[in-house]
This record gives sequence, structure tokens and C-alpha cells, in this order.
Amino acid sequence: MGNFNPAYHLNVALHYLLFFFLASSFLQTCVKSCVEEERRALLTFKQDLTDPSGRLSSWVGQNCCWWRGILCENHMGHVAKMDLQNPYVPSYDNQVWDEVTYQWSFLGGKINPSLLSLKHLQYLDLSNNNFHEIHIPKFFGQLKSLQYLNLSASSFGGEIPPFLGNLSNLNYLDLSWNNMFSPVSSKNLSWLPHLSFLKYLNLGGHDLGSQGVGWLNVVNKLPSLVELHLRSCGIQSLPFSLQTTNLTHHFCSLISHII
Ligand SMILES: *[C@@H]1O[C@H](CO)[C@@H](O)[C@H](O)[C@H]1NC(C)=O
Ligand SMILES: *[C@@H]1O[C@H](CO)[C@@H](O)[C@H](O)[C@H]1NC(C)=O
Ligand SMILES: *[C@@H]1O[C@H](CO)[C@@H](O)[C@H](O)[C@H]1NC(C)=O
Ligand SMILES: *[C@@H]1O[C@H](CO)[C@@H](O)[C@H](O)[C@H]1NC(C)=O
Repeated sequence: MGNFNPAYHLNVALHYLLFFFLASSFLQTCVKSCVEEERRALLTFKQDLTDPSGRLSSWVGQNCCWWRGILCENHMGHVAKMDLQNPYVPSYDNQVWDEVTYQWSFLGGKINPSLLSLKHLQYLDLSNNNFHEIHIPKFFGQLKSLQYLNLSASSFGGEIPPFLGNLSNLNYLDLSWNNMFSPVSSKNLSWLPHLSFLKYLNLGGHDLGSQGVGWLNVVNKLPSLVELHLRSCGIQSLPFSLQTTNLTHHFCSLISHII
């Protein structure tokens, strides 16, 4: 085998050492660690959750930007995104989907208002968890930076709260499949047109049938809407007047999502 040259090996080792030293000081100065107030808010939020499978076990240590499901904005290190979607989402093409693992991976419990400290939160996904019919918290209406809210299939109960109308920056709102066990009609959607930037709305599984065409008048007032999902909403037929509404462009996709 080759000659062993101690000077050469020492040289290589020193270079590696120098590299790691430089790399770590670079990381310390350039990668923002998270804002301490937001870190504490996340820990308080975690305390009130149940998490049998330990999905939030990485939520320890100083830099909350490295915690699972958390993404910080580059600039100031504020928490911008919380993706706490159940990783074992059922899907039709997943042949090996395992319901036990799915349920074991539910987050549940209570949703602590400490989230209000996350002033830059744009994206919140709590879908496919099990909150045992608690109501969607009132304070969600104060998460003013939200552009994306996904509470799909998370067993929230009660009616859709009107204060969601305060989330004027929302682009995506997915509230589908929440009333599986006690279907609750979403009686009054008059708050919806406040969401003037809403591009995507999913109310699948909500009982809108009892409203007559009331839902259509409301949805038609959403100027930015491109995609509407109303599967299993108890809508029997579409009104003839649909052609006179602004939804005409979306007619085909609307039909396909209703039926
Ligand atoms: C919400 O999350 C579910 C999975 O949990 C996903 O299927 C759905 O597409 C998401 N909705 C939006 C608007 O991204
Ligand atoms: C909605 O916004 C208004 C005006 O900013 C505020 O007074 C009200 O408390 C908010 N409601 C909720 C539930 O956040
Ligand atoms: C719906 O709610 C709004 C405000 O919350 C109220 O002004 C309106 O009268 C309600 N409409 C119905 C049909 O209950
Ligand atoms: C369609 O939208 C335009 C503005 O984008 C509005 O002026 C008009 O009244 C709307 N039509 C109906 C039927 O709501």
C-alpha cells in the first residue's frame, strides 16, 4: 500500500479543521436564529397539544427555525410558515396507507393563543389532525398575515366562524371535511366576501343546501376566486342564473367539484 506520510496527513487534517471553523463561524453570523419571543410562543403552543407519535419532538433548543414544520423568513428570522399537516395523509393511490399510523400521528388538544405572537405567519396548515370537535379558535381572525389556512379534515366542530372574514390577506382557505360526525350547516357566509384576495376556497362536506342559492351570491362576490370546491355540500342543482354570474368562467370546474 501507499507510503504513510504523517506531515501530509497532518496538513489535510489542519485544512479540514480550518474549513469547519470557517464554516461554523459563517453559519453563526449568516443564518438567523429564531426570534426568542416566537420560540417561546411555539413552546407554549406545543404544551397544549397532544402528540402521541412525537412529531414535535424536534421542538427543543434555541433555533426554532430548524424545528420540524417551521420555516422562517430569510430576512429577520421570523416564523413565516407552520406546516403541521399529518404526514400520513390518506390518498387513493397510496396502496400501503396505514390507518393506525395515520391516527397515531394526529396532533390534538387545544390551540394556544400564543400563536398570536407569530406576527409574520403567512402559512398555517393543521390539516388531517384530530381536534375532537373544538371550535376553530376565535383568535384565528387576528392572524392578519395569513395567506394560506388549511384546516381540512381536522375534526373542528361548530359553524365556520365569521371572524375568518378578518383575514384579508388570505389566498387559500381549506375548511373541508370537518363535520364528519355532526354535520353542521354553515348558515351565514356573509363574512366571505371580505376575503377579496381569496383564490381558492374549499368547503367540501359543509351543508350549504339549506341556503338555497345564498351561497352562490356570496361566492360570486369574491373577486379573485379561481378555484371553488363544494363536494358533498348538499347542493342539489345549480340555478339557471349561473350564466349571469361572474362564475361562468369556472363553470366546468365548479360542476366537477360539486358532483
Ligand atoms: C390541505 O391539506 C390537505 C392534506 O392534508 C391537502 O389534500 C389539500 O390539498 C390542502 N389544501 C390546500 C388548499 O392546499
Ligand atoms: C376583526 O377586525 C376588527 C377590526 O380590525 C377587530 O375590531 C375585531 O376584533 C376583529 N375580530 C376578530 C375576531 O379578530
Ligand atoms: C349574517 O351575519 C351578518 C353579520 O354577522 C348579519 O348582518 C346578517 O344579518 C346575517 N344574515 C343572516 C341571514 O342571518
Ligand atoms: C362581476 O364582477 C364585476 C367586477 O369585477 C362587477 O362589476 C359585476 O357586478 C359582477 N357581476 C355580478 C353578476 O355579480
